[in-house]
Amino acid sequence: MVQFKLPKNSKIVKGDYYKDKTGSKNLRKVNVYRWNPSDSKNPRIDTYEVDIDNCGSKVLDILNKIKNEIDPSLTYRRSCAHGVCGSCAMNVDGVNTLSCTKSYDEIDGEINIYPLPHLKVIKDLIGDLSTLYKQYESIEPWLKNNSQTEKGKEIYQSKEEREKLDGYYECIMCACCSTSCPSYWWNGEKYLGPAVLLQAYRWIIDSRDDEKKERLQKVADELKLYRCHTIMNCTNSCPKGLNPAKAIGAIKKMLATS
Ligand code: SF4
Ligand code: F3S
Ligand code: FES
Repeated sequence: MVQFKLPKNSKIVKGDYYKDKTGSKNLRKVNVYRWNPSDSKNPRIDTYEVDIDNCGSKVLDILNKIKNEIDPSLTYRRSCAHGVCGSCAMNVDGVNTLSCTKSYDEIDGEINIYPLPHLKVIKDLIGDLSTLYKQYESIEPWLKNNSQTEKGKEIYQSKEEREKLDGYYECIMCACCSTSCPSYWWNGEKYLGPAVLLQAYRWIIDSRDDEKKERLQKVADELKLYRCHTIMNCTNSCPKGLNPAKAIGAIKKMLATS
């Protein structure tokens, strides 16, 4: 199910149709959500027939081809093209994912591309993540070490202490998890959501950090933390294979036993 916030009283209408003019017989039909806040028209789905004989294998390659060769007005975020920056997250074939790592060969039939669900749309495939970034800032995602007085002094970790961060430090804040979580859809202003809670946990368990207790107390809140009802969409949708639900469960357990 694809869900996102549309402008009031609007409905998605059938949009424009574009065909690749290369004469190739190997065309893929791609349906893309379009909405431009400055033209006061309804959102629409544009359809592009794309020559995939002359296209890379990822969904982002298709979008780049459309933008470069067919329709330059198409708007989306991307940067690294290697699954590192998190900026190209969108909903492809009903699933939140990184368009730069998603192969379109895995999709049967037409390829449907929407913005991440339940965000205010800024334009086309770009959702507004400003609330999520504010929430991220609120957990103070940086090392707090009181003994780090000498500039440049290294703070050592044992191999075991470092290994505890595995499965968490790899998070690229793409927001695929938070925007697939029904609790976050309904309480997104107050519930921190899986991406931010996984990040909070990553700092709580860092052996070099001196503010574990304070960090725990900061998230110990009916709305910020306990709105997680173990729905698990977050873990199922993470394109980096991480497990935010496990991180949230671990925070709850720490609070229950502290
Ligand atoms: Fe993205 Fe996974 Fe991090 Fe969520 S946990 S923000 S889905 S990388
Ligand atoms: Fe949402 Fe994941 Fe919890 S989908 S309810 S954050 S387990
Ligand atoms: Fe950086 Fe896709 S463009 S993760």
